[in-house]
Amino acid sequence: MVEYIKPSTIEQRKEWIKEADYNLFNLTSEKVFIDLLTDSGTGAMSDNQWAEMMKGDESYAGSQSFLKLRDTVKKITGFIYFLPTHQGRAAENVLFSVLVKEGNIIPGNSHFDTTKGHIEFRKATTLDCTIDEAFDTTVYHPFKGNVNIEKLEHALINDIENKIPFVIVTITCNSAGGQPVSIENIKQVSEVCKKFKKPLYFDAARFAENAYFIKIREEEYKNHSIKEIAKKMFSYADGMTMSAKKDGLVNMGGFIALNNEDVYKKATVFNIMYEGFITYGGLNGRDMGALAVGLDEATEFDYLETRVEQVAFLGKQLVDYGIPVQQPFGGHAIFLDANKFVPTIPRSEYRAQALAIELYIVGGIRSVEIGTILADRDPFTHKNRYPELELVRLAIPRRTYSLNHMRYIAAVLKNIYDYKDQAKRGYKIVDEAPIMRHFTVKLEKLTS
Ligand SMILES: Cc1ncc(COP(=O)(O)O)c(C=O)c1O
Repeated sequence: MVEYIKPSTIEQRKEWIKEADYNLFNLTSEKVFIDLLTDSGTGAMSDNQWAEMMKGDESYAGSQSFLKLRDTVKKITGFIYFLPTHQGRAAENVLFSVLVKEGNIIPGNSHFDTTKGHIEFRKATTLDCTIDEAFDTTVYHPFKGNVNIEKLEHALINDIENKIPFVIVTITCNSAGGQPVSIENIKQVSEVCKKFKKPLYFDAARFAENAYFIKIREEEYKNHSIKEIAKKMFSYADGMTMSAKKDGLVNMGGFIALNNEDVYKKATVFNIMYEGFITYGGLNGRDMGALAVGLDEATEFDYLETRVEQVAFLGKQLVDYGIPVQQPFGGHAIFLDANKFVPTIPRSEYRAQALAIELYIVGGIRSVEIGTILADRDPFTHKNRYPELELVRLAIPRRTYSLNHMRYIAAVLKNIYDYKDQAKRGYKIVDEAPIMRHFTVKLEKLTS
Protein backbone atom coordinates (compact mmCIF):
# COMPACT_ATOMS: atom_id res chain seq x y z
CA MET A 1 0.00 0.00 0.00
CA VAL A 2 1.37 3.42 -0.92
CA GLU A 3 0.07 6.66 0.52
CA TYR A 4 0.58 10.05 -1.06
CA ILE A 5 2.01 12.82 1.07
CA LYS A 6 1.46 16.42 0.10
CA PRO A 7 4.21 19.02 0.04
CA SER A 8 3.30 22.56 1.15
CA THR A 9 5.05 25.89 1.58
CA ILE A 10 6.42 27.55 4.72
CA GLU A 11 3.90 30.39 4.30
CA GLN A 12 0.98 27.91 4.18
CA ARG A 13 2.25 26.09 7.27
CA LYS A 14 2.65 29.33 9.22
CA GLU A 15 -1.00 30.05 8.55
CA TRP A 16 -2.18 26.49 9.30
CA ILE A 17 -0.38 26.17 12.61
CA LYS A 18 -1.80 29.53 13.72
CA GLU A 19 -5.30 28.34 12.81
CA ALA A 20 -4.54 25.18 14.82
CA ASP A 21 -3.83 27.33 17.92
CA TYR A 22 -0.22 26.21 17.77
CA ASN A 23 -1.28 22.72 18.79
CA LEU A 24 0.11 20.08 16.40
CA PHE A 25 -2.73 17.70 17.32
CA ASN A 26 -5.14 20.14 15.66
CA LEU A 27 -3.57 19.84 12.21
CA THR A 28 -5.36 17.73 9.64
CA SER A 29 -3.15 15.08 8.05
CA GLU A 30 -3.01 16.60 4.56
CA LYS A 31 -1.25 19.61 6.09
CA VAL A 32 1.57 17.36 7.30
CA PHE A 33 4.41 16.20 5.05
CA ILE A 34 6.13 13.72 7.38
CA ASP A 35 4.07 12.63 10.37
CA LEU A 36 6.16 11.77 13.42
CA LEU A 37 3.46 12.70 15.94
CA THR A 38 3.32 9.12 17.11
CA ASP A 39 4.27 5.55 16.30
CA SER A 40 0.91 4.50 17.76
CA GLY A 41 -1.42 2.88 15.25
CA THR A 42 0.34 4.63 12.36
CA GLY A 43 2.31 1.69 10.96
CA ALA A 44 1.59 -0.43 7.91
CA MET A 45 0.14 -3.91 8.20
CA SER A 46 1.69 -6.88 6.39
CA ASP A 47 0.21 -9.10 3.66
CA ASN A 48 -0.43 -11.79 6.27
CA GLN A 49 -2.24 -9.38 8.54
CA TRP A 50 -4.49 -8.23 5.71
CA ALA A 51 -5.16 -11.86 4.80
CA GLU A 52 -6.18 -12.54 8.40
CA MET A 53 -8.55 -9.54 8.27
CA MET A 54 -10.48 -11.39 5.57
CA LYS A 55 -10.96 -14.32 7.91
CA GLY A 56 -12.34 -12.15 10.72
CA ASP A 57 -15.05 -13.90 12.73
CA GLU A 58 -17.46 -11.22 13.89
CA SER A 59 -19.47 -13.36 16.32
CA TYR A 60 -20.44 -11.40 19.41
CA ALA A 61 -19.33 -14.20 21.74
CA GLY A 62 -16.55 -16.75 21.37
CA SER A 63 -15.31 -15.75 17.92
CA GLN A 64 -12.48 -17.71 16.30
CA SER A 65 -10.52 -14.47 15.92
CA PHE A 66 -10.71 -13.97 19.69
CA LEU A 67 -9.44 -17.49 20.28
CA LYS A 68 -6.54 -16.94 17.87
CA LEU A 69 -5.59 -13.75 19.68
CA ARG A 70 -5.99 -15.26 23.14
CA ASP A 71 -3.77 -18.21 22.24
CA THR A 72 -1.13 -15.97 20.67
CA VAL A 73 -1.03 -13.70 23.73
CA LYS A 74 -0.68 -16.73 25.97
CA LYS A 75 2.09 -18.17 23.78
CA ILE A 76 4.05 -14.90 23.75
CA THR A 77 3.48 -13.65 27.31
CA GLY A 78 2.76 -16.81 29.27
CA PHE A 79 -0.05 -15.06 31.20
CA ILE A 80 -3.12 -17.18 31.95
CA TYR A 81 -5.98 -14.68 31.63
CA PHE A 82 -6.64 -12.32 28.76
CA LEU A 83 -9.08 -9.47 28.11
CA PRO A 84 -9.15 -7.53 24.83
CA THR A 85 -9.68 -3.74 24.96
CA HIS A 86 -9.94 -1.15 22.22
CA GLN A 87 -6.55 0.42 23.03
CA GLY A 88 -3.91 0.81 25.75
CA ARG A 89 -5.58 3.46 27.87
CA ALA A 90 -8.75 1.38 27.89
CA ALA A 91 -6.73 -1.50 29.33
CA GLU A 92 -5.44 0.93 31.98
CA ASN A 93 -8.95 2.14 32.69
CA VAL A 94 -10.25 -1.38 33.22
CA LEU A 95 -7.30 -2.67 35.27
CA PHE A 96 -6.96 0.48 37.39
CA SER A 97 -10.70 0.41 38.12
CA VAL A 98 -9.88 -2.78 40.00
CA LEU A 99 -6.52 -1.88 41.48
CA VAL A 100 -6.29 1.89 42.14
CA LYS A 101 -8.05 3.62 45.03
CA GLU A 102 -8.03 7.26 46.20
CA GLY A 103 -4.80 8.11 48.06
CA ASN A 104 -2.79 5.28 46.49
CA ILE A 105 0.79 5.75 45.32
CA ILE A 106 1.94 3.84 42.24
CA PRO A 107 5.71 3.59 41.82
CA GLY A 108 7.25 2.90 38.42
CA ASN A 109 9.65 4.19 35.76
CA SER A 110 8.43 7.49 34.22
CA HIS A 111 4.76 6.57 33.80
CA PHE A 112 3.29 7.30 30.39
CA ASP A 113 0.82 10.23 30.29
CA THR A 114 -2.33 8.10 29.96
CA THR A 115 -1.11 5.83 32.76
CA LYS A 116 -0.47 8.84 34.98
CA GLY A 117 -3.78 10.35 33.88
CA HIS A 118 -5.77 7.25 34.85
CA ILE A 119 -4.00 7.10 38.20
CA GLU A 120 -4.48 10.80 39.00
CA PHE A 121 -8.08 10.71 37.80
CA ARG A 122 -8.65 8.26 40.68
CA LYS A 123 -7.06 10.76 43.09
CA ALA A 124 -3.95 8.65 43.44
CA THR A 125 -0.37 9.66 42.60
CA THR A 126 2.60 8.25 40.72
CA LEU A 127 6.13 7.94 42.04
CA ASP A 128 8.86 8.09 39.42
CA CYS A 129 11.68 5.72 40.32
CA THR A 130 13.59 5.82 37.01
CA ILE A 131 17.39 5.74 37.36
CA ASP A 132 19.07 9.18 37.37
CA GLU A 133 21.03 8.48 34.17
CA ALA A 134 17.77 8.71 32.21
CA PHE A 135 17.53 12.42 32.94
CA ASP A 136 20.88 13.34 31.40
CA THR A 137 20.68 12.94 27.62
CA THR A 138 24.47 12.91 27.27
CA VAL A 139 25.13 10.00 29.63
CA TYR A 140 25.37 6.60 27.99
CA HIS A 141 23.55 3.83 29.81
CA PRO A 142 22.35 0.76 27.91
CA PHE A 143 19.12 0.54 29.92
CA LYS A 144 17.98 4.05 30.77
CA GLY A 145 14.46 2.77 31.41
CA ASN A 146 15.69 0.87 34.47
CA VAL A 147 14.11 1.34 37.87
CA ASN A 148 16.23 2.71 40.72
CA ILE A 149 15.91 -0.26 43.05
CA GLU A 150 16.92 1.66 46.18
CA LYS A 151 14.31 4.33 45.54
CA LEU A 152 11.64 1.69 44.97
CA GLU A 153 12.61 -0.23 48.08
CA HIS A 154 12.69 2.98 50.11
CA ALA A 155 9.14 3.80 49.01
CA LEU A 156 7.93 0.33 49.94
CA ILE A 157 9.69 0.33 53.32
CA ASN A 158 8.04 3.65 54.16
CA ASP A 159 4.62 2.53 53.00
CA ILE A 160 3.35 2.02 56.54
CA GLU A 161 -0.23 2.92 55.60
CA ASN A 162 -0.19 0.40 52.73
CA LYS A 163 -0.83 3.00 50.05
CA ILE A 164 1.09 1.16 47.34
CA PRO A 165 -1.16 -1.45 45.71
CA PHE A 166 1.28 -2.50 42.93
CA VAL A 167 4.32 -1.43 40.92
CA ILE A 168 4.19 -0.68 37.19
CA VAL A 169 7.18 -0.88 34.85
CA THR A 170 6.90 0.53 31.32
CA ILE A 171 8.82 -1.46 28.68
CA THR A 172 10.31 0.35 26.82
CA CYS A 173 10.01 3.53 28.84
CA ASN A 174 8.43 5.99 26.41
CA SER A 175 8.58 9.09 28.64
CA ALA A 176 12.29 8.58 29.31
CA GLY A 177 12.99 8.46 25.58
CA GLY A 178 11.94 4.99 24.43
CA GLN A 179 14.59 3.50 26.70
CA PRO A 180 14.70 -0.20 27.54
CA VAL A 181 14.65 -2.00 30.87
CA SER A 182 17.09 -4.90 31.34
CA ILE A 183 16.08 -8.38 32.46
CA GLU A 184 18.50 -7.96 35.35
CA ASN A 185 16.57 -4.87 36.49
CA ILE A 186 13.17 -6.48 35.91
CA LYS A 187 14.34 -9.40 38.05
CA GLN A 188 15.45 -7.07 40.84
CA VAL A 189 12.15 -5.16 40.73
CA SER A 190 10.29 -8.45 40.90
CA GLU A 191 12.34 -9.56 43.93
CA VAL A 192 11.56 -6.30 45.75
CA CYS A 193 7.87 -6.66 44.85
CA LYS A 194 7.82 -10.22 46.16
CA LYS A 195 9.54 -9.15 49.38
CA PHE A 196 6.82 -6.57 50.01
CA LYS A 197 4.05 -8.77 48.58
CA LYS A 198 3.13 -6.30 45.84
CA PRO A 199 2.15 -7.39 42.36
CA LEU A 200 4.24 -6.19 39.44
CA TYR A 201 2.55 -5.07 36.23
CA PHE A 202 4.08 -4.07 32.91
CA ASP A 203 2.91 -1.34 30.60
CA ALA A 204 4.11 -3.44 27.69
CA ALA A 205 3.28 -1.30 24.62
CA ARG A 206 6.81 -1.76 23.21
CA PHE A 207 7.82 -5.03 24.83
CA ALA A 208 9.23 -6.45 21.57
CA GLU A 209 11.56 -3.46 21.07
CA ASN A 210 12.56 -3.89 24.72
CA ALA A 211 13.37 -7.55 24.04
CA TYR A 212 15.46 -6.52 21.01
CA PHE A 213 17.60 -4.20 23.15
CA ILE A 214 18.03 -6.97 25.73
CA LYS A 215 19.27 -9.30 23.00
CA ILE A 216 21.84 -6.83 21.67
CA ARG A 217 22.89 -5.23 24.99
CA GLU A 218 22.54 -7.83 27.72
CA GLU A 219 25.33 -10.40 27.23
CA GLU A 220 23.45 -13.31 28.79
CA TYR A 221 20.65 -13.11 26.23
CA LYS A 222 22.57 -12.57 23.00
CA ASN A 223 21.87 -16.11 21.78
CA HIS A 224 18.21 -16.15 22.81
CA SER A 225 15.38 -15.52 20.38
CA ILE A 226 13.17 -12.46 20.81
CA LYS A 227 10.25 -14.71 21.73
CA GLU A 228 12.31 -16.43 24.43
CA ILE A 229 13.41 -13.08 25.84
CA ALA A 230 9.85 -11.73 25.83
CA LYS A 231 8.61 -14.80 27.69
CA LYS A 232 11.43 -14.40 30.21
CA MET A 233 10.56 -10.71 30.79
CA PHE A 234 6.90 -11.50 31.36
CA SER A 235 7.74 -14.39 33.70
CA TYR A 236 8.74 -11.82 36.35
CA ALA A 237 5.42 -9.94 36.22
CA ASP A 238 1.91 -10.63 37.45
CA GLY A 239 0.22 -8.97 34.54
CA MET A 240 0.35 -6.35 31.82
CA THR A 241 -1.56 -3.69 29.98
CA MET A 242 -0.88 -3.41 26.27
CA SER A 243 -1.41 -0.76 23.65
CA ALA A 244 -1.32 -3.06 20.63
CA LYS A 245 -1.02 -0.01 18.37
CA LYS A 246 2.73 -0.22 18.90
CA ASP A 247 4.28 -3.69 19.08
CA GLY A 248 1.02 -5.35 18.06
CA LEU A 249 1.54 -3.79 14.60
CA VAL A 250 -2.12 -2.84 14.27
CA ASN A 251 -3.93 0.48 13.87
CA MET A 252 -6.20 -0.05 16.86
CA GLY A 253 -6.24 -2.49 19.75
CA GLY A 254 -5.12 -3.31 23.25
CA PHE A 255 -5.44 -5.90 25.98
CA ILE A 256 -4.86 -6.93 29.55
CA ALA A 257 -3.12 -10.21 30.38
CA LEU A 258 -2.59 -11.47 33.91
CA ASN A 259 -2.25 -14.43 36.24
CA ASN A 260 -4.44 -13.51 39.21
CA GLU A 261 -7.92 -15.00 38.87
CA ASP A 262 -9.52 -12.61 41.36
CA VAL A 263 -8.20 -9.51 39.55
CA TYR A 264 -9.26 -11.04 36.23
CA LYS A 265 -12.81 -11.65 37.47
CA LYS A 266 -13.15 -8.09 38.76
CA ALA A 267 -11.62 -6.65 35.58
CA THR A 268 -14.11 -8.67 33.54
CA VAL A 269 -16.98 -6.65 35.02
CA PHE A 270 -15.34 -3.34 34.11
CA ASN A 271 -14.40 -4.66 30.67
CA ILE A 272 -18.03 -5.48 29.93
CA MET A 273 -19.13 -2.05 31.19
CA TYR A 274 -16.54 0.03 29.35
CA GLU A 275 -15.33 -2.02 26.40
CA GLY A 276 -17.78 -4.72 25.38
CA PHE A 277 -18.16 -8.44 25.92
CA ILE A 278 -15.02 -10.24 27.10
CA THR A 279 -14.42 -11.94 23.75
CA TYR A 280 -14.15 -8.71 21.79
CA GLY A 281 -13.56 -5.80 24.20
CA GLY A 282 -14.27 -3.03 21.69
CA LEU A 283 -12.44 -4.76 18.82
CA ASN A 284 -13.75 -6.20 15.57
CA GLY A 285 -13.07 -9.88 14.99
CA ARG A 286 -10.89 -8.97 11.98
CA ASP A 287 -8.85 -6.59 14.15
CA MET A 288 -8.20 -9.33 16.68
CA GLY A 289 -7.04 -11.63 13.88
CA ALA A 290 -4.66 -8.98 12.50
CA LEU A 291 -3.33 -8.38 16.01
CA ALA A 292 -2.63 -12.08 16.56
CA VAL A 293 -0.49 -12.08 13.38
CA GLY A 294 1.06 -8.69 14.28
CA LEU A 295 2.25 -9.90 17.68
CA ASP A 296 3.92 -12.84 16.03
CA GLU A 297 5.63 -10.67 13.41
CA ALA A 298 6.72 -8.00 15.92
CA THR A 299 8.58 -10.60 17.95
CA GLU A 300 10.84 -11.66 15.06
CA PHE A 301 14.45 -10.44 15.12
CA ASP A 302 14.69 -9.43 11.44
CA TYR A 303 11.70 -7.12 11.67
CA LEU A 304 12.97 -5.55 14.91
CA GLU A 305 16.48 -5.05 13.59
CA THR A 306 15.17 -3.15 10.54
CA ARG A 307 12.83 -1.12 12.70
CA VAL A 308 15.20 -0.11 15.50
CA GLU A 309 18.12 0.48 13.13
CA GLN A 310 16.01 2.83 10.99
CA VAL A 311 15.35 4.93 14.08
CA ALA A 312 19.08 4.81 14.90
CA PHE A 313 19.93 5.90 11.34
CA LEU A 314 18.08 9.16 11.94
CA GLY A 315 19.69 9.51 15.38
CA LYS A 316 23.20 9.07 13.97
CA GLN A 317 22.62 11.72 11.31
CA LEU A 318 21.46 14.19 13.97
CA VAL A 319 24.44 13.43 16.19
CA ASP A 320 26.76 13.99 13.22
CA TYR A 321 25.20 17.44 12.83
CA GLY A 322 25.88 18.14 16.54
CA ILE A 323 22.18 18.17 17.41
CA PRO A 324 21.48 17.23 21.07
CA VAL A 325 19.38 14.06 21.32
CA GLN A 326 18.70 11.47 24.01
CA GLN A 327 21.37 8.79 23.82
CA PRO A 328 21.41 5.93 23.34
CA PHE A 329 18.63 6.27 20.76
CA GLY A 330 15.18 5.07 21.70
CA GLY A 331 13.55 2.07 20.08
CA HIS A 332 10.61 3.89 18.53
CA ALA A 333 11.73 7.49 18.41
CA ILE A 334 14.51 10.02 18.56
CA PHE A 335 14.10 12.60 21.29
CA LEU A 336 15.53 16.09 20.78
CA ASP A 337 16.81 17.68 23.96
CA ALA A 338 15.12 21.10 23.84
CA ASN A 339 16.91 22.31 26.99
CA LYS A 340 20.15 22.07 25.02
CA PHE A 341 18.72 22.91 21.58
CA VAL A 342 16.89 26.14 22.48
CA PRO A 343 17.99 27.18 26.00
CA THR A 344 17.37 30.77 24.90
CA ILE A 345 13.58 30.27 25.14
CA PRO A 346 12.35 30.40 28.78
CA ARG A 347 10.94 27.13 30.12
CA SER A 348 7.80 28.98 31.16
CA GLU A 349 7.27 29.63 27.44
CA TYR A 350 7.32 25.91 26.55
CA ARG A 351 10.58 25.65 24.67
CA ALA A 352 10.05 22.05 23.50
CA GLN A 353 6.69 22.99 22.02
CA ALA A 354 8.32 26.01 20.35
CA LEU A 355 10.91 23.72 18.75
CA ALA A 356 8.22 21.26 17.59
CA ILE A 357 6.32 24.15 15.96
CA GLU A 358 9.46 25.41 14.21
CA LEU A 359 10.08 21.91 12.85
CA TYR A 360 6.58 21.88 11.42
CA ILE A 361 6.86 25.34 9.87
CA VAL A 362 10.27 24.75 8.31
CA GLY A 363 9.83 21.17 7.09
CA GLY A 364 6.16 20.17 7.40
CA ILE A 365 7.28 17.58 9.96
CA ARG A 366 4.85 16.92 12.80
CA SER A 367 6.47 15.83 16.08
CA VAL A 368 5.26 16.04 19.65
CA GLU A 369 6.28 17.87 22.81
CA ILE A 370 7.27 15.66 25.73
CA GLY A 371 7.89 18.41 28.23
CA THR A 372 6.12 20.91 30.44
CA ILE A 373 2.84 20.97 28.52
CA LEU A 374 2.59 17.18 28.60
CA ALA A 375 3.55 17.09 32.29
CA ASP A 376 0.28 18.86 33.18
CA ARG A 377 -0.16 21.00 36.28
CA ASP A 378 0.40 19.62 39.75
CA PRO A 379 -3.04 18.25 40.75
CA PHE A 380 -2.80 19.93 44.17
CA THR A 381 -0.98 23.27 43.61
CA HIS A 382 -2.20 23.72 39.99
CA LYS A 383 1.22 25.10 39.12
CA ASN A 384 3.13 23.98 36.04
CA ARG A 385 5.28 20.93 36.70
CA TYR A 386 8.68 21.30 35.08
CA PRO A 387 10.01 17.84 34.23
CA GLU A 388 13.76 17.29 34.22
CA LEU A 389 13.74 16.89 30.46
CA GLU A 390 12.13 19.05 27.79
CA LEU A 391 11.97 16.75 24.79
CA VAL A 392 10.62 16.80 21.27
CA ARG A 393 9.77 13.27 20.20
CA LEU A 394 10.26 12.21 16.60
CA ALA A 395 8.29 8.96 16.65
CA ILE A 396 8.86 6.78 13.61
CA PRO A 397 5.80 4.83 12.38
CA ARG A 398 6.53 1.14 11.79
CA ARG A 399 7.13 -0.08 8.22
CA THR A 400 6.06 3.29 6.74
CA TYR A 401 8.88 5.70 5.84
CA SER A 402 12.14 5.10 3.97
CA LEU A 403 15.71 6.10 4.82
CA ASN A 404 15.30 9.01 2.41
CA HIS A 405 12.59 10.42 4.63
CA MET A 406 15.02 10.11 7.56
CA ARG A 407 17.62 12.08 5.60
CA TYR A 408 15.07 14.80 4.88
CA ILE A 409 14.13 15.08 8.58
CA ALA A 410 17.79 15.34 9.58
CA ALA A 411 18.46 18.03 6.95
CA VAL A 412 15.53 20.14 8.16
CA LEU A 413 16.73 19.91 11.75
CA LYS A 414 20.28 20.83 10.75
CA ASN A 415 18.87 23.91 9.06
CA ILE A 416 16.98 24.92 12.25
CA TYR A 417 19.99 24.13 14.46
CA ASP A 418 22.10 26.58 12.46
CA TYR A 419 19.95 29.56 13.53
CA LYS A 420 18.84 28.27 16.96
CA ASP A 421 20.43 31.21 18.84
CA GLN A 422 17.92 33.59 17.31
CA ALA A 423 15.06 31.83 19.15
CA LYS A 424 14.08 34.00 22.11
CA ARG A 425 10.36 33.69 22.75
CA GLY A 426 7.95 30.79 22.98
CA TYR A 427 4.22 30.50 23.62
CA LYS A 428 1.63 31.07 26.31
CA ILE A 429 -1.35 28.86 27.10
CA VAL A 430 -4.73 30.48 26.50
CA ASP A 431 -6.93 27.43 27.07
CA GLU A 432 -6.27 24.04 28.66
CA ALA A 433 -8.06 20.96 30.00
CA PRO A 434 -7.50 20.00 33.67
CA ILE A 435 -5.90 16.68 32.72
CA MET A 436 -3.92 15.51 29.65
CA ARG A 437 -4.01 19.09 28.44
CA HIS A 438 -1.54 18.58 25.59
CA PHE A 439 -4.17 17.01 23.35
CA THR A 440 -6.42 20.07 23.26
CA VAL A 441 -4.33 22.96 24.59
CA LYS A 442 -4.59 26.31 22.78
CA LEU A 443 -1.50 28.49 22.58
CA GLU A 444 -0.60 32.00 21.53
CA LYS A 445 2.73 33.03 20.08
CA LEU A 446 4.78 35.45 22.18
CA THR A 447 6.80 38.15 20.45
CA SER A 448 9.21 40.62 21.96
C1 LIG B 1 3.98 3.41 27.08
C2 LIG B 1 2.56 3.66 26.69
N1 LIG B 1 1.57 3.23 27.47
C3 LIG B 1 0.28 3.43 27.16
C4 LIG B 1 -0.09 4.09 26.02
C5 LIG B 1 -1.54 4.33 25.72
O1 LIG B 1 -1.95 3.56 24.66
P1 LIG B 1 -3.15 3.99 23.68
O2 LIG B 1 -2.70 5.19 22.91
O3 LIG B 1 -3.34 2.78 22.83
O4 LIG B 1 -4.33 4.26 24.52
C6 LIG B 1 0.92 4.57 25.17
C7 LIG B 1 0.55 5.30 23.93
O5 LIG B 1 1.31 5.98 23.30
C8 LIG B 1 2.28 4.35 25.51
O6 LIG B 1 3.28 4.79 24.75
